[in-house]
Amino acid sequence: MPAPVIELRNVRKSFISPGGETVAVLDIDSFSVEPGEQCALEGQSGSGKSTLLNVVSGIMRPDSGSVFIDGRDIARVDEASRDRVRADCLGLVFQQFNLLPGFTAIENVLVAMSFGSSRPDRGRAASLLAAVGLGHRLDHKPAELSVGQQQRVAVARSLANRPRVVLADEPTASIDTAHQQQVIELLRETCRAEGAALLVVTHDRSVAEQFPRRIRLEDFNRAARSHDTQARPA
Ligand SMILES: Nc1ncnc2c1ncn2[C@@H]1O[C@H](COP(=O)(O)OP(=O)(O)OP(=O)(O)O)[C@@H](O)[C@H]1O
Ligand SMILES: [Mg+2]
Repeated sequence: MPAPVIELRNVRKSFISPGGETVAVLDIDSFSVEPGEQCALEGQSGSGKSTLLNVVSGIMRPDSGSVFIDGRDIARVDEASRDRVRADCLGLVFQQFNLLPGFTAIENVLVAMSFGSSRPDRGRAASLLAAVGLGHRLDHKPAELSVGQQQRVAVARSLANRPRVVLADEPTASIDTAHQQQVIELLRETCRAEGAALLVVTHDRSVAEQFPRRIRLEDFNRAARSHDTQARPA
């Protein structure tokens, strides 16, 4: 059995509230994603889904515990090694999709490629953008794209470096219905073709139902269960 591409052990993460109170957000004994696995992550608003993705992607360090990405514990390595793992192994699509405003759609994908280990490939960048329906918008900057189109650029960018895992936080939340299915299919097909695992946070049941593995954060995050009564419904 190959090693998981994501493996969390005894991960704890708390925040200090504005009132000075410590709020436990993640308390996870064990969570893993296997190579190539496609998984939808659901959970109430405020249950810690984005925090979990931030910890898995190395954007946030846990207070304690281990976060193995492709066998390397990014909770313990220095920042440079963590950045290397992020560039080579992970593709990210987040709620705020963070495109570079001064760069065109294709340049945004090429910049992501420049952080990876292979050479930037303009042909591949263009075909990824064409696959999300933006073949005619390669030279537009984010401000010249609709919100949904910007999110599709973020999806194309996440696949730039042939990652082992794509993490997507509500990737279809601001996309019109016609393109939602296209984006999910693109993510799933490209991840399948490239052997990448896919972990998608979604509130949309019709999106979650397409995934072979569906999980709820409350089921494996003790902190979310203890805050259930305070959480707003998703
Ligand atoms: N930087 C921070 N400082 C303090 N508290 C935070 C911080 N980031 C998140 N939190 C708190 O942690 C909890 C989990 O937030 P998170 O964004 O992970 O939830 P979520 O499950 O992604 O919710 P949603 O479905 O609304 O996106 C929330 O109660 C939030 O207020
Ligand atoms: Mg969130």
